[in-house]
Amino acid sequence: MLPIPAIDFSAPSQHAVLPPRSRDRFAPRLVQEVPKGEIVSTHDQRQLRLRSIDLTDVDALRRCFVRLSPEDIRRRFLHAMSELPLPMAQRLCQIDPALETALVLVDESVAPAEIRGVGRIYVDEAADSAEFSVLVEHDWSRVGLGAMLMKRLVDDCRRRGLAEVWGYVLLENRPMLELCKELGFVRRLQRNEPGTAQITLKL
Ligand SMILES: CC(C)(COP(=O)(O)OP(=O)(O)OC[C@H]1O[C@@H](n2cnc3c(N)ncnc32)[C@H](O)[C@@H]1OP(=O)(O)O)[C@@H](O)C(=O)NCCC(=O)NCCS
Repeated sequence: MLPIPAIDFSAPSQHAVLPPRSRDRFAPRLVQEVPKGEIVSTHDQRQLRLRSIDLTDVDALRRCFVRLSPEDIRRRFLHAMSELPLPMAQRLCQIDPALETALVLVDESVAPAEIRGVGRIYVDEAADSAEFSVLVEHDWSRVGLGAMLMKRLVDDCRRRGLAEVWGYVLLENRPMLELCKELGFVRRLQRNEPGTAQITLKL
């Protein structure tokens, strides 16, 4: 009888394909984050990232607020505010996409990245319309960003199938009134809010 050869189980087989060790199989994968949004250019060729706002923007939004003049704050919020409280910043960064769109223009040429502009709409489903607001940091004004944000918001309202988009603008706010006129908005005086106009675009 032929002797049975001994098998050495500790020696690596040249043919066997072993499954990866469990510590490799279950290790967290390093997912490379794909930047969201798109790169847009100002009229003077500065570049910014245009994307939806999210909760990572809370600190940058509060820093942006600190750089605003009291006049810009009053024109955007229609009253004076000395700071953007944390809960309000968190609320502004956490949107309900069914009813809101909020776009930020992010300057990634600095560290940390800074928000230079914000545009948002709130949908009123019952009225089949949305209220807009827009803001551009002073050092970045007059280079097309306000118009860019407004056009994106109007497009978004059209995609949502809304009948109109509107906003309150102070009558002294000539830049915004001019911008809205160029985009085809019409102005209605507010009898109960002297000094304020309602600016509307039928879609
Ligand atoms: C109003 C505001 C959004 C304009 O943003 P912006 O980025 O400077 O605007 P743009 O560069 O896109 O300008 C678009 C048009 O707006 C008008 N405009 C803008 N700034 C103006 C100014 N200072 N004077 C007159 N018209 C002006 C012009 O018609 C301009 O077109 P043009 O440059 O071809 O002449 C910005 O000044 C702002 O954030 N203001 C404070 C907040 C606010 O008022 N929000 C609106 C109420 S929600």
